[in-house]
Amino acid sequence: MKLDVLFSPAGLAKDEVAGRAVFVIDVLRATTVACAALCHGARGILPARSIDEAIRLSAMPEAAGSLLIGERAGRPIPGFALGNSPLEMTENRVRDRTLVMTTTNGTNAMLATEGATFVYLAAAANLTVAGARARELLGAGRDVVILCAGRSGGFSLDDAYTAGRLAVLAIGGGPAAGLNDAGLAAIDLAHRYGDDWQRPLERSAAGRHLIEIGYGADVSDAARQDQYPALPELAGRRIRAAIAA
Ligand code: MLT
Repeated sequence: MKLDVLFSPAGLAKDEVAGRAVFVIDVLRATTVACAALCHGARGILPARSIDEAIRLSAMPEAAGSLLIGERAGRPIPGFALGNSPLEMTENRVRDRTLVMTTTNGTNAMLATEGATFVYLAAAANLTVAGARARELLGAGRDVVILCAGRSGGFSLDDAYTAGRLAVLAIGGGPAAGLNDAGLAAIDLAHRYGDDWQRPLERSAAGRHLIEIGYGADVSDAARQDQYPALPELAGRRIRAAIAA
């Protein structure tokens, strides 16, 4: 078995994900938002690379009645129905709706996984279900990649800590053989912060930015482990819940 953690999708080569199972992490906030939306009954999510692409996708017949959601610089996009806050993904707003989503880093990381056999989204919000699936895949002899969305093409503490927590569950306390160096470093981060999600999330640049612009409640929401226990799966350009909440 092989388990690689990648701290950012920048420069990702196709053969790093081809034929493998990939878990994408953008804990602040895109993958947390996807878990919240699917848990609250959204029919599916279409990730888009840009605002223009999101608008184009939302006009397609298969996206009839869809809601545009997302952020730029953390703030809601003018003209979009919802921002990128998990707290906005209430049952009232999202049940039975298709969401078309574009975010600064998260949706690009999701779409960088072309060629992977399975693509799942992970966050604190679904850590246990994502960890169980990763462990099952490794047990079946599959190669697994944990891909952090990172920040502006670089490392982000919030995603790297989450990757470490997921890697610990994936290997189930077993030997770290088969882990790349980023995986070893991510597991070290998980041990350094222990079970305390709030601390690494609010210390990260993404967390500090969100707190500064008034989204501190989102950081705390993203730090609640297993509160949106859906497993979002990206297949054929659409994200759906692989396991019902
Ligand atoms: C991203 O894609 O970079 C994040 O989801 C940013 C955010 O939520 O503000």
